[in-house]
Amino acid sequence: MRASQTVDPAGSPTTANSITIDELELKFPNGFVGLKSTKLHVTGGQFCTLLGPSGSGKTTLLRALAGLIAPTRGRILIGDTDVTALPVQARNIGFVFQNYALFPHMNVAENIAYPLKLHNWSAADREARVKEILDLIELPRAGEHTVGQLSGGQQQRVAIGRALAYRPSLLLLDEPMGALDRRLRQQLGADLRELQQRTGITAVYVTHDQEEAFILSDKIAVMSQGEILQYSTPSDLYSRPRSRFVARFLGEANLIDVQSMQDNTALTAYGPVSLSSQTAERGKATSPALLVRPEDILFNPGRTADAALAQPLKVKICRTLFLGSRCLVTVLAPDDSEILVECNKSDVPKAGDDVSITWDRAATVLLDS
Ligand SMILES: Nc1ncnc2c1ncn2[C@@H]1O[C@H](COP(=O)(O)OP(=O)(O)O)[C@@H](O)[C@H]1O
Ligand SMILES: [Mg+2]
Repeated sequence: MRASQTVDPAGSPTTANSITIDELELKFPNGFVGLKSTKLHVTGGQFCTLLGPSGSGKTTLLRALAGLIAPTRGRILIGDTDVTALPVQARNIGFVFQNYALFPHMNVAENIAYPLKLHNWSAADREARVKEILDLIELPRAGEHTVGQLSGGQQQRVAIGRALAYRPSLLLLDEPMGALDRRLRQQLGADLRELQQRTGITAVYVTHDQEEAFILSDKIAVMSQGEILQYSTPSDLYSRPRSRFVARFLGEANLIDVQSMQDNTALTAYGPVSLSSQTAERGKATSPALLVRPEDILFNPGRTADAALAQPLKVKICRTLFLGSRCLVTVLAPDDSEILVECNKSDVPKAGDDVSITWDRAATVLLDS
């Protein structure tokens, strides 16, 4: 693969490195398998997020990439170089952790210069690079500040700047915004994305927050129990998940078990659901299910040729959750299962009302597992 050429505005041109993880397996000394055979390719210059619940193996994969723990099997390539056997220092990676405290006894400039000092940069080169980094993280006048004078978000910007100072070939971030409140996370997230795009560095970011992953990423690897279940763009993962797990993890999901398939029709507890022929073609899985997102369900629909259900389903309104810009309504289906429907806050039905629902054929996703 050809490496993409980008320019670090705070320095010389850098070559964005790709990452290839090939059949990587990692067993801890106690026998626990932290990573099952894992494959992943991150294009140079892209922002890739490892997304999954706590304990799914995100940090383990990131630490293996950094060289902090050794895999039992498989290979890691940065660009064309096999780094599997290389020690941490030889991999040239910038690392930012959730609680990666800056050195409190050093000021901001000294913190950023620290890795450069370790690499024997001259005092003049260090000074010039620190100035570039301070500009890059938009704290141009904070060099002389003590760490304690900075907000939590500013401290993490300095930590990111410090990680970038030595011009690493990769930037790895493990829940770097976990300790910050929601507003700060959004701001720092936007800053981080901008910084990554401006420097063109390849980034791998760990989070359990689906919204954060959507905002930041070119691609997301959804992890569960030491495995990558699906790897794709945010919009593709949301609209075409392959499994119940991914469908649920990426947003509100109505999952409907499929009893059997007949041509372009899935037989379910709600009656026959007709699928687009493209969708039905994939229905050869052992335990398929249908996914319908709440925003795709319509209340009291008029007749449409594209409806997934032959007859609208009669349901009763259970309760409504007000979410600010929208409402999430829970309705009870004839088989007593609950269905989530998103609606506009101006036309929210009342609890106890009888209504009917349907959705478009094109909005039905067939899941393999
Ligand atoms: N050194 C270790 N020895 C044994 N098990 C470990 C070790 N480190 C992590 N684990 C286990 O591996 C699993 C994945 O951990 P981790 O990668 O930290 O998850 P995540 O970052 O997704 O929350 C967890 O069940 C954790 O308990
Ligand atoms: Mg972790």
